[in-house]
Amino acid sequence: MVGVPEAFPMFNRRAGRIISLKDRIEECFVRSENGKPISYDGPEMQAVVDYITWVSKPQPREEPFVGRGLVHLPSLQPDPKHGAQIYATQCAGCHGQQGEGRSPLFPPLWGEYSFNDGAGMNDITKMAAFVQHNMPQNRMGILSPQEAFDISAYIHSQPRPAFNHAFERF
Ligand code: HEC
Repeated sequence: MVGVPEAFPMFNRRAGRIISLKDRIEECFVRSENGKPISYDGPEMQAVVDYITWVSKPQPREEPFVGRGLVHLPSLQPDPKHGAQIYATQCAGCHGQQGEGRSPLFPPLWGEYSFNDGAGMNDITKMAAFVQHNMPQNRMGILSPQEAFDISAYIHSQPRPAFNHAFERF
């Protein structure tokens, strides 16, 4: 979140146009969070904008924030069976054997309440990059890029909600 307000307005490839921070937040509600759109003028939207602006205050303008964004991995051939084994030992403790998560602390990774198939995380390579750098949350950095790909492929072999295109703005 830190430094994000500085990045907007930003050109968005999917939209094919310049989008605002509010457009981006709305996208997170309907794709990443598999929720419903919120009003651009409502108190919820203002609260999220204010929060992101507030956490960004100490950050010098234009300077990259450590840990922001994805550090991309080379493309590897994943083995989802091996991924299932690592998932059971390294991830299930927080995210659940069935990927169901533990509300409100640990997000579900698949099933009814997880992010939907329109989310950025619904991409094996992107998830592998995220997981390799940030998970397991209590032991970050223990996974090799190959292991991160294996787990990501396993998670992507599981069901998740479809993005509701009625909510699509771009
Ligand atoms: C100690 C608890 C813990 C463990 C163990 C853990 N996670 Fe997480 N995970 C979290 C928390 C908390 C979040 C939400 C905050 C964040 O994204 O950092 C999260 C977020 C995620 C997300 C993003 C979900 C979303 O909706 O965007 C993915 C993917 C993920 N974890 C995968 C994994 C994988 C794969 C493993 C095993 C290698 C793992 N996690 C192990 C606590 C954990």
